[in-house]
Amino acid sequence: MIKVYVGMSADLLHPGHLNIIKHARQYAGPDGEVVVGLLTDKAIASYKRLPYMSYEQRKTVVENVKGVSRVIPQETLSYVANLEREKPNVVVHGDDWKTGVQAETRQQIIDLMKTWGGKVIDIPYTQGISSTSLNCILKEIGTTPEIRLNRLKRLLEAKDIVRVMEAHNGLSALIVEQMQVDNGGRKEEFDAIWISSLTQATSKAKPDNGFLDSSSRIAHLSEILDVTTKPIIYDGDNGGPAEHFIFTVRELERLGISAVIIEDKIGLKKNSLFGTEVFQQQDTIEDFCHKIKVGKSAQVTDSFMIIARIESLILEKGIDDAMARAKAYLNAGADGIMIHSRSKSFDEVKQFTQRYNQLPNRKPLVVVPTAYAYVYEEELIENNINIVIYANHLLRSAYPAMMNTAQSVLTHHRAKEASDEYCMSIKEIINLIPGGEIVKYK
Ligand code: SPV
Ligand code: MG
Repeated sequence: MIKVYVGMSADLLHPGHLNIIKHARQYAGPDGEVVVGLLTDKAIASYKRLPYMSYEQRKTVVENVKGVSRVIPQETLSYVANLEREKPNVVVHGDDWKTGVQAETRQQIIDLMKTWGGKVIDIPYTQGISSTSLNCILKEIGTTPEIRLNRLKRLLEAKDIVRVMEAHNGLSALIVEQMQVDNGGRKEEFDAIWISSLTQATSKAKPDNGFLDSSSRIAHLSEILDVTTKPIIYDGDNGGPAEHFIFTVRELERLGISAVIIEDKIGLKKNSLFGTEVFQQQDTIEDFCHKIKVGKSAQVTDSFMIIARIESLILEKGIDDAMARAKAYLNAGADGIMIHSRSKSFDEVKQFTQRYNQLPNRKPLVVVPTAYAYVYEEELIENNINIVIYANHLLRSAYPAMMNTAQSVLTHHRAKEASDEYCMSIKEIINLIPGGEIVKYK
């Protein structure tokens, strides 16, 4: 009996996948076996975006494709563990892996297969269709609140760390949605969007002191929802009075926001990065736990997350206080903890993290390395930190760029210098956002 192995993600199943499976069945013959090694969410997230469908959903689809005998999980990008276990006679793959970053993997598999007399067969790549092009089309179609909301929990399960970037309007959100970097074959993207009170207020030239109430902040959010599909984490300040927080939770959840983070402070809102330079007051553990409980009972789905933000380090109350609060907030039902710090060193957060990680009911931990920006994601991962938020960087880089241009025009009494040095071309800006053309009826 001939056993043929096919590895695939099969998120957006297209004729290319079916062609591979058809060939696999031909090699296996009617009595042979076609085993699909279906990459798990974790395996896929290790080198590109999370698939649209969960592993179970993808498995249901592939199991029912004609020619497939069996579907098994492939837990890593590497085929090695599954091949050693299954010892197939043949591995079938699209011939696109003969070149580029996958060439090395292919050679490794050829060498391994030889050890038990197996071989690799490359099938001509199906032109004109690919998961990447389908992904672009899907992004254009958009998403639904439910799909978007659920995505953060899936990311937390699949990724070593969930990488979140701030956006403060439609255009910056589009950057977070679309920016992709190829790091030696790994397609790196931001996983989610942070709606920062600081950058939302600053982009409207207002202080981050709660002047923008939650209704105006949520209205502002709609332009970001409009142009993105990635999950959103909302900075809820201190959530307001518990009686108001109920409505915020319901509104955010209805919009498909995945999580709200609320901080344990009371009184006039001050940005945490002022630390003890200004008067800021922490809430009592009891009152803040009450707010968490009220919020948790207000939500409709199981997927929406309320993350409790601890300000003890900001207010120089020490790690013992932060830990006591973490325990209490988790017991009150918080779905995660954000530990904030404005220390220039990562040490303080690291010390907290080491103790936090021992908690039996530990939930995802969020950090915001604004002050200790030198820390690499790799170090955060080593410390089991689950979410990293780059809380203000797109706005902080946009403002100096605009200042340079304004200064240049005033200095030179014309726009040429700024235009040549600092500006994108007119052609680029008018084509940046498609859809300006007249729509023709069919
Ligand atoms: C924000 O981005 O608004 C935050 C994080 O709350 S911080 O500004 O560091 O307090
Ligand atoms: Mg804030």
